Amino acid sequence: MKYEWKPSMSVNENKIDSQHKRLLAQIAKLEKNIASRNVNMGVLRDTNHFLYTYFKEHFTYEEKYMGKIGFPKLEQHKKVHQSFIQFYDGFQRELMEKARARSLTSFDVKEMVVKIKKYLAEWLVDHLMKMDQEYARFAKRIK
Ligand SMILES: [Fe+2]
Repeated sequence: MKYEWKPSMSVNENKIDSQHKRLLAQIAKLEKNIASRNVNMGVLRDTNHFLYTYFKEHFTYEEKYMGKIGFPKLEQHKKVHQSFIQFYDGFQRELMEKARARSLTSFDVKEMVVKIKKYLAEWLVDHLMKMDQEYARFAKRIK
């Protein structure tokens, strides 16, 4: 799969579209690194840092937008965002524990990079193509 933003993914809101583009670019970068076996602690740290700032900013903005347009499934959508945050927290905890115990081998690093990329790719791409389209369709109806 190509991690490229397509016009069919648009939610007709510029800031959210550009946030989704950044996420897809990050996944594409990860995939490239994995394919070229260029996976190291720097890649893992970079990904982790990206996600930490990205999701706080993106989910908050998206939830505010859904509230603003009166999207009726806001609470349901928030729960899905929450489940991602839970996954990410677990991922971060695992990383921190391993780093603290100094038991983070290059094999672990690779495994964790693959794990986060797989999760992002399967879960989030599906999320932004299906669930995010629901509020986009709703916004179109009320315009
Ligand atoms: Fe969303």
